[in-house]
Amino acid sequence: MTDAPSHLNTGSHDLAVSPELSRFMAGDWAPSPLPASDRVAAYAVTPARRARLSALFPGERLVVRAGELKVRTNDCDHRFRPYSAYAWLTGLTGEDQAGHVLVMEPSGPHAHEAVLYLRPRSPRADGDGAFYRDRRYGEFWIGRRPELAEAERLTGIRCAPLDALGSPTGRDAASDPELATALSELRLVKDAWEVGQLQQAVDHTVAGFEDVVRALPRALAHPRGERWIEGVFGLRARAEGNGTGYETIAASGAHACALHWIRNDGRLNGDELLLLDAGVETDTLYTADITRTLPLSGRFSPVQRQVYELVLAAQEAGMAALRPGASFRDFHRAGMRVIAEGLADWGVLKDAEGDLHRRYTLCSSGHMLGLDVHDCGKARAQSYLDGILEVGQVLTVEPGLYLQPDDETLPAELRGIGVRVEDDLVVTADGARLMSGALPRTVDGIEEWMGGLLDAARG
Ligand code: GLY
Ligand code: MN
Ligand code: MN
Repeated sequence: MTDAPSHLNTGSHDLAVSPELSRFMAGDWAPSPLPASDRVAAYAVTPARRARLSALFPGERLVVRAGELKVRTNDCDHRFRPYSAYAWLTGLTGEDQAGHVLVMEPSGPHAHEAVLYLRPRSPRADGDGAFYRDRRYGEFWIGRRPELAEAERLTGIRCAPLDALGSPTGRDAASDPELATALSELRLVKDAWEVGQLQQAVDHTVAGFEDVVRALPRALAHPRGERWIEGVFGLRARAEGNGTGYETIAASGAHACALHWIRNDGRLNGDELLLLDAGVETDTLYTADITRTLPLSGRFSPVQRQVYELVLAAQEAGMAALRPGASFRDFHRAGMRVIAEGLADWGVLKDAEGDLHRRYTLCSSGHMLGLDVHDCGKARAQSYLDGILEVGQVLTVEPGLYLQPDDETLPAELRGIGVRVEDDLVVTADGARLMSGALPRTVDGIEEWMGGLLDAARG
């Protein structure tokens, strides 16, 4: 018996391999070509992106890593998702990208040659048995990887073995803030293909919200109904795409007053609202980010309607402020003005001036959307938060009111109500197109939509 070579990722309970088995495993395998890819369009858009990056850093070596696997427990890793800028530059988005590195080598004063350093498929004969012994990377453990020539044909990028990389000098996006910023800013405006991917993400998300409404009777009966909802949405996300683009927020009643309630361990109360903030991420890694706040009874109570309609009015005002040339912050200001005036009308605030309304709104009411749910996060303020909207930018508008259950500034009937309405929009020449308009937003629209789905579910 021989122990596994130390570079193989084996488990403490793996069986040793006899020389006979080792020889037996090495032979008699038929050719198994890589299945055809359905991602040709995803690779076709990447040369233009690399050219834009190249132009910003003439003569400099640029390193963009996919990232590494992260242990979850012992020998089990978390699912791997590559660094968004790596996916954007290469079109490679799979779990098999762990450890891979894109290097942009200067190839003249104003050009770079892209080289992908990959862990290629390991050989069957004359190899170390990695294909059946390495539980992290072996083909018989996690599936087939492309050979270098196959990866080149797929991506149109020269490929080299990861072993040959060594430690490259130059700018590394993992540690060079200037490069990381450039990679965020280059992604601020989406190309037509990206907008199409985001629309797919939105459409699958709409289907996921419909699934959740149909599942409400089961969820209401379960002691952890919030988890049931998370699971129902997650099924749709996994079935149609790569998964959820962020942890689903399924918040019943006062849980909705925690902005990112992802514990989702609560019971659903049929008299309360459910805040569902969820997004499907496509296989190409673009995510939607949508929130609806739904009455679990199917009908808003008068006080729920009062809060909901104020948030909706704020969202309408925010969306109406989107247009190329507007300041990024305009839509937030427009929405917050409506909220502050509403709170003053209710007598919660003395007047609509100042920033006291923020006790009840807590956070900014929108952000860029793309490969990351909070996209382009390393962009400088001057090009994002203090910047000007441009055609092709995709963003959320998501005002909310979070009326904490223990807030003594509020009348008792308002306490414990949390409402957010969140939609995804793309900036167009004359305003913005609502990408998530297939999901109703008005009180009447939501009640009618829920009623239809629940009737159909009950048969
Ligand atoms: N789902 C996180 C957010 O809305 O920003
Ligand atoms: Mn959002
Ligand atoms: Mn959201």
